[in-house]
Amino acid sequence: SNEKQHFRIGFSQCGMDDRWREEMVEGMNRELSFYPELSMILKDSKWNNQTQYAQIEELINLPVDLLIVSPNDSKLLEPVITKAYQKGIPVLVVDRRVFSDQFTAFVGANNLVVGQHAGEYANILLNGHGRVLEVGFGPRTAPAIGRHNGFHSVIQKYPHIQYVDYLNKDWADKDLREALTQKLSKNPNLTDLIFAHNDRCALIAYDVCKNLGIEKKVKFIGVDGLVGNNLGLDLVKKGIINATILYPTGGEESIRIAAKILRKQAFEKENELFTSVIDAQNVNIMLAQLNKLKEQHADIERQATRIKDLTKIFSSQQAVLYLSFFF
Ligand code: FRU
Repeated sequence: SNEKQHFRIGFSQCGMDDRWREEMVEGMNRELSFYPELSMILKDSKWNNQTQYAQIEELINLPVDLLIVSPNDSKLLEPVITKAYQKGIPVLVVDRRVFSDQFTAFVGANNLVVGQHAGEYANILLNGHGRVLEVGFGPRTAPAIGRHNGFHSVIQKYPHIQYVDYLNKDWADKDLREALTQKLSKNPNLTDLIFAHNDRCALIAYDVCKNLGIEKKVKFIGVDGLVGNNLGLDLVKKGIINATILYPTGGEESIRIAAKILRKQAFEKENELFTSVIDAQNVNIMLAQLNKLKEQHADIERQATRIKDLTKIFSSQQAVLYLSFFF
């Protein structure tokens, strides 16, 4: 049976320097502790497409038994992802999807729906009247494409909501800060609402507005909804942003699906994660639930270390037994 076999998973992650991606990997590691037959090699491409391309090739050459990938640029990395898939390596795409069908499974929330939620909520916040500005984090990433299409199509339905502009680049935080400052200081009345593609950009947008003294007049919607100081849910709770669209990382789910693929069990090709609007109405219940979950995660991690320690003690006792047989 496959039960005793060891499998190596390679994970090509587009970047690691934000809480959302850290949380994804934490989820993966926690889930991995339930599968002793699985190990994972993590490659962080630091948002560089060439690096990510080369790292996926490395993982193909090892070879790994399964590739998990969150591609920075969905188009540029498509050929190397296709290459892995055609070599017979199962490919699990997470969060940032590819637009071909050359992959084994996908797990992530539907970004078109994320954008639609933001559009509908913007309409509610504005009572059907006002101007909206959109901020993205990279024109060639699948989530930005989905979020923009969803948001824009909903905004277009409302005749008295005006779509002002779409600022979307692969920017560092300070570049976004600069671009927004320039735009809004020229015309502080430009917009009534800013939809930013993640909470981090939403906080930057808020900061810029605050510096210009217009933060009370502008509404803010972000995406992600992480737990922690100045992260999405906290920003909603403090009233800094009006809402965030929950965007789960899929860390645990991706390991569960990877395990099914490797064990040749049934799995779905499309695994859509839940998304919904979090605002002042439901943020407290959300935080209460997620804090409970956090405690359980800590329990699981403690159990895992305990089991590891016990295994160590056990195997050293085995060694003592073995040696005592000879001496
Ligand atoms: C984190 C992040 C999230 C966003 C996701 C989209 O790296 O930018 O904020 O929701 O990636 O891929």
